[in-house]
Amino acid sequence: TADEDLEARPPVVTVMGHVDHGKTKLLDALRNANVVAGEAGGITQHIGAYQVHTEVDGADRRITFIDTPGHEAFTAMRARGSQSSDIAVLVVAADDGVMPQTVEALNHAKAAGVPIVVAVNKIDKPDADPTKVRGQLTEYGLVPEEYGGDAMFVDVSAKSGLNLDKLLEAIVLTADASLDLRANAEREAQGLVIEAHLDRGRGPVATVLVQRGTLHVGDSIVAGPAHGRVRAMLDEFGNELTEAGPSRPAMVLGLSAVPGAGQNFIVVEDDRMARQIAEKREARERAAMQAKRRV
Ligand code: GTP
Ligand code: NA
Ligand code: MG
Repeated sequence: TADEDLEARPPVVTVMGHVDHGKTKLLDALRNANVVAGEAGGITQHIGAYQVHTEVDGADRRITFIDTPGHEAFTAMRARGSQSSDIAVLVVAADDGVMPQTVEALNHAKAAGVPIVVAVNKIDKPDADPTKVRGQLTEYGLVPEEYGGDAMFVDVSAKSGLNLDKLLEAIVLTADASLDLRANAEREAQGLVIEAHLDRGRGPVATVLVQRGTLHVGDSIVAGPAHGRVRAMLDEFGNELTEAGPSRPAMVLGLSAVPGAGQNFIVVEDDRMARQIAEKREARERAAMQAKRRV
């Protein structure tokens, strides 16, 4: 509503592209470049969502990244990713050029109306041909700025770290030029489950993206058919968080079960209500499954 108290929030960026074009390596390189010397215990574990800092025009800016798989079987994840993000980074390997899932990802981003930044990756390879990539994408209607279009293309190497700062800058500039990114940080949190798994020691662990409001340790939440109290939250470096505001990804501990990627989470008044809602959702899912089986 109009009198809601809206504050600026970081852009949420989904990284998409054909299998093995370097999405995950690029994100790992961005994250490693962001580790302040002496901070945390080094990065050992890959997670599918995290936030990085960069400086643009002297201001500290944050960007939230979500990784997606490039294998053709994961169409639904790419579609969902582009729908829940503000910007898509399309990673294209400069040696391979445009491939089927490059085009598919481009179409998802277009359908979702999400601005696209192109990372032309593996520029370190001897057979890299970044000009060819620009020509190919122009044919699909994604025209580089330097050709008079409106998409920013950045040649990068996830391997050597070349131009990673330029990529971050292009994302910030694209966000500032075409998006009004604000959210109410004061309300109860709601958002999306990015990925989740069962950890031997810690139980169910869900990486969630807060879309609105602020999530706190101690909050009662429902995530898909799972519920529970947030026992602890960790950031991308394994540091404990006490709260997570809009656009922040966080690993949440304390759920009763492992929710599915893409399911929503909400904060509710107390544990009892969380359990009731989760049980209703579970019953609804069971009924839907049985109905499907009868067909
Ligand atoms: P999927 O998630 O399976 O779709 O793959 P991906 O796009 O995440 O690719 P990934 O990061 O797993 O990289 C695939 C391969 O390309 C790995 O062997 C990387 O080391 C290599 N690679 C990624 N980026 C670069 C780069 O900039 N230069 C070179 N030479 N190799 C790269
Ligand atoms: Na891969
Ligand atoms: Mg990957």
